Amino acid sequence: MSKTKAGIINVTGYAGVDLARLLYRHPSVELVSVTGRSAAGKKLAEVFPHLSEIDLTIEAELGKVDIVFSAMPHKESAEEIMPLVKQGIKVVDISADFRLKEAEKYPEWYGFTHPAPELLGKAVYGLPELYRSQVASAQLVANPGCYSTSAILALAPVAKEGLIESGIIVDSKSGVSGAGRTLSMPTHFSEANEDVAAYALGGHRHLPEIIQEVGRLRPGWSPSITFVPHLIPMTRGILSTCYCQLAGGGAKDEKEIRQLYQDFYRDEPFVRVVDAPPHTKHTSGNNLCLLYPVLDPKTGRLIVISCLDNLVKGAAGQAIQNMNLMLGLPETDGLETISVYP
Ligand SMILES: NC(=O)c1ccc[n+]([C@@H]2O[C@H](COP(=O)([O-])OP(=O)(O)OC[C@H]3O[C@@H](n4cnc5c(N)ncnc54)[C@H](OP(=O)(O)O)[C@@H]3O)[C@@H](O)[C@H]2O)c1
Repeated sequence: MSKTKAGIINVTGYAGVDLARLLYRHPSVELVSVTGRSAAGKKLAEVFPHLSEIDLTIEAELGKVDIVFSAMPHKESAEEIMPLVKQGIKVVDISADFRLKEAEKYPEWYGFTHPAPELLGKAVYGLPELYRSQVASAQLVANPGCYSTSAILALAPVAKEGLIESGIIVDSKSGVSGAGRTLSMPTHFSEANEDVAAYALGGHRHLPEIIQEVGRLRPGWSPSITFVPHLIPMTRGILSTCYCQLAGGGAKDEKEIRQLYQDFYRDEPFVRVVDAPPHTKHTSGNNLCLLYPVLDPKTGRLIVISCLDNLVKGAAGQAIQNMNLMLGLPETDGLETISVYP
C-alpha cells in the first residue's frame, strides 16, 4: 500500500525538526516536502546533520502532499494554512492560531486580528484524550500548547467531575527549547545556565487556552486560574505542579482521587498515572505525559504533578498522534519510543 505523503512547513524550527525525526520512522506516512525560509535550497542533512538519513531539500514552497504540519510562528501560520484548508488538504497546526475559539482573544493575547475567524469553529482542539472522535473527522486540527497540554491533562479528571473549586494554581517549569530556536537574550547559555526565573506574570499566552479547555470540561463553570511559568536550565521538558482545593470540603480521599485518574486515563496510550513524583527525564524524547495526583494531608489540597517533553507530547509527537487519528491509523504509530536516559 502506498504511504500517505506528508509535509512540514518551517522544518527549521525546533518543533518542525522534531517532526521530521519522528516521521522518519512512521510505518504508513512518508515525509516528502519540507519548507524553510533562510535555509531554502539546502539539504535537510546539511542544516541538521542528525537527520542525515532523510534525503530531502528544504524548499521555499510546499510540494504536493496529503497532510501538512505547520510549525510556523503564530500569525504567519494562519496565513500559510488558509489556502491549504481551501484546497481540502488535512492540516495540523502546531502554532496557536486555531486554538482559541473566540477571535476577539487574538488581538488581546497574540497582538493580531485573526485573518480567518470562520475557521476557528471548524478547527478541532487536538488533545486526543479529550477530543478523539472530533480529531478523527477533522480537516484542521489545532495542536495544543506545551504548557497547556501538561496543565489540562493534570486537571481534566477532577474538573470534569466537579471535584475542585474554581481557584487553581498552575506552577510550571520549562526547558529553554520551549522558547524556540531563534536566538534571544533569556535563552543564551550564560543567561539561562545555573539560573531559574519566573516570567510572563502579567499573563502567559497559554493561559486563555488552559482556561478555555478546563472550562469546557464542565459547562457553565469558569475556572479562575493563576499560571506562573519558569525558565530553567535544561534543554527539553516541562514539569507543571497544579494546586486545587477540593470542592465540598474534600469529599474524596487520596485513594479515590488516584482511582479516578487511573479510570479516566485507563485506555490512553500516552498518559500514565505514576506512583512517585515524575521526572522530566522520564519523558525526554517520548510522547508520554506522566501524572502524579496526591493530597496534601495538612491542607487537604489536591496537588497534581504533570510532566512531558515540550517538543514531543507538547508539540511534534502530539501532532503525529493527531495525524494518526485523522488518517484512521493506529494512534501510536511512529510514537513507540522509550525516553532517552540519563
Ligand atoms: N518550541 C516548543 O516547545 C513549541 C511547543 C509547542 C508549539 N510550538 C509552536 O510551534 C511553532 C514553531 O515553534 P518553534 O519553537 O519550533 O520555533 P522556532 O524554533 O523559534 O522557529 C524558528 C524558525 O522559524 C522561522 N521563522 C521565524 N519567523 C518566520 C516567518 N515570519 N516566516 C517564516 N519563517 C519564520 C525561522 O526561520 P529562518 O531562520 O529561516 O528565519 C526559524 O528557523 C510556534 O508557533 C510555536 O508556538 C513550539
